[in-house]
Amino acid sequence: MNHTFDINSIPSQKGRTAIVTGANIGLGYETTLALAQKDVKVIMACRNIEKAEKAKAQILAQVPQAELEVMQVDLSKLQSVRDFAASF
Ligand SMILES: NC(=O)c1ccc[n+]([C@@H]2O[C@H](COP(=O)([O-])OP(=O)(O)OC[C@H]3O[C@@H](n4cnc5c(N)ncnc54)[C@H](OP(=O)(O)O)[C@@H]3O)[C@@H](O)[C@H]2O)c1
Repeated sequence: MNHTFDINSIPSQKGRTAIVTGANIGLGYETTLALAQKDVKVIMACRNIEKAEKAKAQILAQVPQAELEVMQVDLSKLQSVRDFAASF
C-alpha cells in the first residue's frame, strides 16, 4: 500500500482562514504557499512589513488567486501580540 502524503492529497480548504507567523521566509513561507494553493485565506503575521509584502508578491506570482493579508506582529513583545489579536 502507498502511504505517501503530499500537498496533492489535500482537498480544497476554501472558506478557511489561517494565521501564519514568520510567513515571509523558511517554514512560514512554504506553509503560506501551500495553504494558498489550497484556497485558504492566509494572514501573514510578520514583524517586518516590507519583507512580508515581498513574500506576498512572490506567492501571488505563483498563485494569482491567493487571498493573502499582511499583518504586523512582534512575537517577542506581548503588547504587540495583544494588538495583533485585537485587530484580527
Ligand atoms: N527541527 C528541525 O528539523 C527544524 C528544521 C527547520 C526549522 N526548524 C525551526 O523552525 C523554526 C522556523 O524555521 P525557519 O527555517 O522557517 O526559520 P527562519 O527562516 O529563521 O524564519 C523565522 C521566521 O520567524 C520570524 N521571526 C523571528 N523572530 C520574530 C519575532 N520576534 N516576531 C515575529 N516574527 C519573528 C522571522 O522574521 P524575520 O524574517 O523578520 O526575521 C522569520 O519570518 C526555527 O525555530 C527553526 O529553528 C527546525
